[in-house]
Amino acid sequence: MSVQSSNYSTNGNAEAATGPSASENTGAFQSVKTYLSNKDYKFYLCLSATAVLVGAGVYYFSSSPKSKKKKRPPKRRHQGTGVKKSEPRSAKNKEDVVEYEKFTPEQIEALPMEKRIDAAQTLKERGNRAFGAKRYGKAIDLYTSALAFNKDSIYYSNRAACYFHTQQYENTINDCNEALVIDKHYIKALNRRASAYEFTKQNRTALNDYTASCIMDNFRNESSAEAIERLSKLVAQEEAHEMMRDRPSRLPSTKYVARYFDAYGIDKRRRADGGTNGEITSDSENKGEEYYEKAMQHVRQHRWQEAMEAFDKAIELGCSHMAEAYEYRGSFHFLCASTDKALADLNKALELKPDFTRAHLKKATIYMEQNNGEEANSEFETAIRKDPNNADIYYHRGQVNFVTNKLEDAIKDYEKSIQLYDKYLYTHVQLGLAKYRLGFIEEGYSILEKCLEKFGESSDIHNFLGELCYDLQRFDEALANFEKAISLGADDAAPYVNKALLCLQKQDPAQAEEFCHKALEIDPESDVALNAMSQILHTQNKVEEALTYMKRAVDLARTEEELAAALQYVEIAKAQLEFQRNYPERANELSMRR
Ligand SMILES: *[C@@H]1O[C@H](CO)[C@@H](O)[C@H](O)[C@H]1NC(C)=O
Ligand SMILES: *[C@@H]1O[C@H](CO)[C@@H](O)[C@H](O)[C@H]1NC(C)=O
Repeated sequence: MSVQSSNYSTNGNAEAATGPSASENTGAFQSVKTYLSNKDYKFYLCLSATAVLVGAGVYYFSSSPKSKKKKRPPKRRHQGTGVKKSEPRSAKNKEDVVEYEKFTPEQIEALPMEKRIDAAQTLKERGNRAFGAKRYGKAIDLYTSALAFNKDSIYYSNRAACYFHTQQYENTINDCNEALVIDKHYIKALNRRASAYEFTKQNRTALNDYTASCIMDNFRNESSAEAIERLSKLVAQEEAHEMMRDRPSRLPSTKYVARYFDAYGIDKRRRADGGTNGEITSDSENKGEEYYEKAMQHVRQHRWQEAMEAFDKAIELGCSHMAEAYEYRGSFHFLCASTDKALADLNKALELKPDFTRAHLKKATIYMEQNNGEEANSEFETAIRKDPNNADIYYHRGQVNFVTNKLEDAIKDYEKSIQLYDKYLYTHVQLGLAKYRLGFIEEGYSILEKCLEKFGESSDIHNFLGELCYDLQRFDEALANFEKAISLGADDAAPYVNKALLCLQKQDPAQAEEFCHKALEIDPESDVALNAMSQILHTQNKVEEALTYMKRAVDLARTEEELAAALQYVEIAKAQLEFQRNYPERANELSMRR
């Protein structure tokens, strides 16, 4: 069975509480990242706890205006006026047999204003009846006649509806434009124009109109709110696809890469603990050998770009560790999102060294990212057959099970991995999180708490515990844990981000912003911090500023999927800015957000 991205529900039991923010659009993106790096598990928990990061823009849009004090504009005469099917004043219409349609412009001109308005109203009512009977051509004629008497935005909008029903989208748009010139706050006309734009695939323009209509309507119209989600996603996907085409491949942040490799070194640690060293050294006779040695040195010092280049050279010149060199280069290709090249290198490594477990696991990761659960599983099974006591295998299979929400299987895998090697913190953490998510709250929590005995000096464990406390709404404990994490680890952005989220939760966005700045000082490439920052700014309606951070997150995106997810926020923010430009008076009115 192939793994669908929507199965990657990232927010487990907190989903119900967080509601619409748990949009599935970022599901695959989050979970694959989650799969790769422990950092993102924290991110992930942040999400379920605070509901702020996933679907940032959409959530913000769809939730905050509702919570604000009722400050709606006075009811306009055409509020809720569409093309009504029933005709309340039919009695009066019966008397109206005047054929206004046949009036010449001169005759109309000659009528007093009052009379003209009456005539137009009569024609509109006839138009509405024709519309109700689905006689759109007739209705169009009647509205056109009505407009000859009186240029009312409603007549334009109603005629637009007829055009829309007869697939005349250009005319729909033109009539909505006319209606909106007369009344720029005409929500129905905005929605209608948006639909016409969408049908004619003018996706971004449609997004702008839906955004305006939703903001003005306080998100009461669900189908319009869904349209924002749908169209922003489409526009972002299209754009991401374009951008990927001539995007130079680059490695993710140094820390990200380090964590990636770290997660494939559990078994190596086990072997090292047992006395056998996994590292092989050899005399460097030829150039290729030298490059390989250099590359390994770069790896140890986290100079990833240099390492990548050196492996490339080692392969080109030939060395005695060709399988390893291919495996490393394949990993770098994967990290640069060059999946085909990555698979080719990993296959080459396995050709040269068939029992190369790590290569199997990394292939599984790639298949996972491609939503190919079947192939991923088969790689795991092969690895287990060849190397049944390798702790890495169970950890990684556990990760796959975790992100695909097969939590029971994940738990079995983590337990097996721990049984083989119990000194890797993250296996314990994952086990705890899986239990927690499965609803064994106390047990999950105590697994993490127990980690303090062995890993108490790790900043990460305090941060994880803090996040669980946060999720349990034990905010003071959460804060204490984040502060402990900060005191233990100077180089991690996550606890600062979490502190920021706590501040946000306590309605202190200024302080939240400050902690996010600290996080970004520590790690300017922390996507967690960038996302939190843009969210925090967004909730204060500092859209322009939020956008700059969103754009930085876009620059960091590794795969097309990640890029599209990051761009979606950018698109939503841009649509909001467009609204602010077009409706400055409404934008001010709505800039409450507290
Ligand atoms: C707009 O969205 C449609 C799907 O509704 C898609 O087929 C089309 O490619 C998109 N066009 C652009 C220019 O993004
Ligand atoms: C909600 O918006 C859709 C277009 O997105 C529109 O067709 C529908 O009439 C709107 N509903 C209401 C009650 O305004």
